[in-house]
Amino acid sequence: MLILNKTAGVFFKPSRRKIYAFLGSFHFHPGKLFLHKLVLGIETSCDDTAAAVVDEAGNVLGEAIHSQTEVHLKTGGIIPPVAQQLHRENIQRIVQEALSASEVSPSELSAVATTIKPGLALSLGVGLSFSLQLVDQFKKPFIPIHHMEAHALTIRLTNKVEFPFLVLLISGGHCLLALVRGVSDFLLLGKSLDIAPGDMLDKVARRLSLIKHPECSTMSGGKAIEHLAKQGNRLHFDFQPPMQRAKNCDFSFSGLQHVIDKMIMQKEKEEGIEQGQVLSSAADIAAAVQHTVACHIAKRTHRALLFCKQRGFLRQSNAVLVVSGGVASNLYIRKALEIVTNATQCTLLCPPPRLCTDNGVMIAWNGVERLRAGLGILHNTEGIRYEPKCPLGVDISKEVGEAAIKVPRLKMKI
Ligand code: KG4
Ligand code: ZN
Repeated sequence: MLILNKTAGVFFKPSRRKIYAFLGSFHFHPGKLFLHKLVLGIETSCDDTAAAVVDEAGNVLGEAIHSQTEVHLKTGGIIPPVAQQLHRENIQRIVQEALSASEVSPSELSAVATTIKPGLALSLGVGLSFSLQLVDQFKKPFIPIHHMEAHALTIRLTNKVEFPFLVLLISGGHCLLALVRGVSDFLLLGKSLDIAPGDMLDKVARRLSLIKHPECSTMSGGKAIEHLAKQGNRLHFDFQPPMQRAKNCDFSFSGLQHVIDKMIMQKEKEEGIEQGQVLSSAADIAAAVQHTVACHIAKRTHRALLFCKQRGFLRQSNAVLVVSGGVASNLYIRKALEIVTNATQCTLLCPPPRLCTDNGVMIAWNGVERLRAGLGILHNTEGIRYEPKCPLGVDISKEVGEAAIKVPRLKMKI
């Protein structure tokens, strides 16, 4: 058997004594009877090492997460080898914590589900190697998981949502609109052509030096922008939403970010301050940025809903729009989306914040969904590889653009 050596961060052949110590660290409950199938989910695609045990009925029996955010904040971004090392140092402890909290031993699991795509190669590799050792050791089926599919299906763990539904994923690394037709049946309607909205908000917050603002110093960039925006007047700045002429469901944020950067530079000159100090107009800029981002996201989502209804992919009334990802916790953006769902007789649903961001529960739940549907369960893991790049479902974004649906103007009074 191979287990992870925490200090060296490499796999090695441990002694028999060490194996028993590792296995002995799980709480075994010989008299326990599980009525449901149990799936262990493991996530290491980016900068969170996460694991969870979820049963067939959607009960979260145990979960654990180690976030690397603090380390990456200091370096101003994720350095892949650093992320890999941190995953190596934490994965065994995190998996063990999730199993112990659930009072489930590895031998009682029905399967192990692990994110193998898309993500950072070095990070994905740690989760995959660890999982392959585990399934080999305990002779369990392995369920490879697509990270975005897992995000998209999380809502079915918390709410009774039937297929099909529309999903909008917005975070620091994701930005896409997809129609979810089944456990492994997705149509990609649009995605960001450059960076994700959370990435852009983080960059703007950094450029505004909000970390030096006494009220925002511990907040993520997006959260800091939302917080400051409440004190600002968005009408003091006029940023145009991107891609207004392109009648598709794609997004773009980097052009807008450059326009904002230029504006900040101009304001610094006007106020006579150096880069690195907080502008007196920072709150107004935050409010205008947030409004522009919200309008852009709302417009593309509105078009996606209209397209799906026009094609008969979604029913005319009571269709469901699911919004997830770190940026989905922004209440201003949610309100903008609510204006869209009200205008289109749809229902807006968001998973709770802890399930919107990367976590092990969504991976385990995707494993449960796949187990129930009998899809992608491997009894032989030979040749299994991680895939850093992997699109979600069938890309029909070109067809969406060709439909060129004109979206009625909505009053974004938020
Ligand atoms: O899903 P997440 O935790 O990580 C990934 O990107 O995968 O999302 C983090 C992103 C960051 O860019 C952060 O600035 C943004 O979500 N975010 C927000 C808010 N809270 C977090 N953006 C806007 N408003 C917020 N309240
Ligand atoms: Zn994610």
